[in-house]
Amino acid sequence: MRKRSYRVAYMTDNDKSCRCFKEETIMSLYTDKVMDHFENPRNVGVIENADAVGEVGNPLCGDIMKMYLKIDDDVITDIKFKTFGCGSAIATSSMATELIKGKTLDEALELTNKAVVDALDGLPARKVHCSVLAEDAIKAALVDYYEKTGREMPESLVGFEPHED
Ligand code: FES
Repeated sequence: MRKRSYRVAYMTDNDKSCRCFKEETIMSLYTDKVMDHFENPRNVGVIENADAVGEVGNPLCGDIMKMYLKIDDDVITDIKFKTFGCGSAIATSSMATELIKGKTLDEALELTNKAVVDALDGLPARKVHCSVLAEDAIKAALVDYYEKTGREMPESLVGFEPHED
């Protein structure tokens, strides 16, 4: 993991209030991929008339993530997100959308926060919890889809509850 300096000017208000903000040394541990997805997040926005919407929040830091899915023949044909959160939350949202765009619902269900972190070449240990929001937001959107369509919920989504930390 390459160390780099980081300009505080890029941080959002939420970053500044984040419990991790005071540890500026953490910022120097972000990988190039994390920085790229933070500074140039993919698939940001809203899908009007989305087939599924999932929203989750981290009660400890207050960050919120919302995912919108367009689904056609069990394939995620489009995905957008809005994240009110720290840099890690934005980067992991962006990467997660890239990983499941064009994938089937079953494939999307298998996405883990670990896979997202790996795809970003890692996160500082204290920021790994931020990646859970992306996995949870996608699962929440899939729950919404199965509920709306009345289709049988996959076993792994039955009783789904977002993580609380
Ligand atoms: Fe809240 Fe990163 S500090 S998701």
